[in-house]
Amino acid sequence: MRLTMMEFVEPDMVLARTLYDPCGRPLLRRGVKLTSSYIRRLKSLGYTALYIDHPLTHDVRVEDYVPPELKAHLIKEVREIFQGVRDSGRVGDVLPDKNVYRIVDLFTDILESMQGNELFEVHMGSILNKDEALLNHSFYVSLFSTIIAMSKGMDESRVREIGIGALLHDIGKVVIPDKILNKPGKLTALEWQEVQEHALMGYDIIRKQHAFSIVSAHCAYQHHERLDGSGYPRGLSGDSIHPVGRITAVADVFEAMTATRAYKRPILPSEVIEYLYAQCGTQFDIEYVEAFRDHVALYPVGVTIQLNDDRRGVVVANHPEFPQRPIVRIFAHGNESVTPYELDMAKTLNVVVADFRRDPLIALPVHEEQ
Ligand SMILES: [Fe+2]
Repeated sequence: MRLTMMEFVEPDMVLARTLYDPCGRPLLRRGVKLTSSYIRRLKSLGYTALYIDHPLTHDVRVEDYVPPELKAHLIKEVREIFQGVRDSGRVGDVLPDKNVYRIVDLFTDILESMQGNELFEVHMGSILNKDEALLNHSFYVSLFSTIIAMSKGMDESRVREIGIGALLHDIGKVVIPDKILNKPGKLTALEWQEVQEHALMGYDIIRKQHAFSIVSAHCAYQHHERLDGSGYPRGLSGDSIHPVGRITAVADVFEAMTATRAYKRPILPSEVIEYLYAQCGTQFDIEYVEAFRDHVALYPVGVTIQLNDDRRGVVVANHPEFPQRPIVRIFAHGNESVTPYELDMAKTLNVVVADFRRDPLIALPVHEEQ
């Protein structure tokens, strides 16, 4: 299978992984041949990428470190919480116990499924409605924060506190009007002040829940603080920022910059990592940027990439010890298709990933498997 950006998905392509609807029910099953109406529907639901079967990548398998049903169920609970806060229009209420306890239970199951993994992968492509960008963002910030905490050897209860806190780190945003959050131009001073308030509002919401720890609330409160004191809401600096705030900050920025959104194209994960390095010591804690770098493969198995020498191929494996340099099955040099061969980027250091946002394999004649 391989991951294909939605704009390149065409009728008759075969879906390689089951898709789940926002309630965790199967929406389209693996093996279904896509039709124009399926594709239109998936686009309207906000899917930006799909795994499809491809003759040259039949043997490529994508492992889930979080089972998709579990992810869908967790997102459903968070969606209900966000909706409840949005409907009430204020942040003083206690969240429904039902959702809060389900989140704790589901997150415990997710942690269990992640145990024992040495290497995780970034995601590519949103699987949720455009209106639910905040949910998608929340889920991946939670996963990345969890990975960083696990890789630092934190105990399970602390990892869970961080994961749940990161899941709800932006909950204060749900009461900020969309016209401010999605404003394309510069915010006025008043609007910017309103946006900044989401950190404190999130803290207030989370700390009132008995099932959540105060540590989780600090993920919301401190995820925009920066080491040099330039962050908000309190302008904390250095060690006065709790480690959970420093961890969530790294996960938050990485996710926001690499994500596909309705209004922006994603930035290359390797470029975002470079950005984080450049800001280590001033904005971000190097300890957590390194933990992220060492445990998250930047280009997931199945993604189509283009190298700086114009070779094109699909990532077929990642090295746990060198997660930025995948093994790529090359199918084309420029627009010329070639007999497929594998290039280990860990052994060929003079090539880098130049792009993954285009999908040049689509237009190529396909070599059938031998
Ligand atoms: Fe935020």
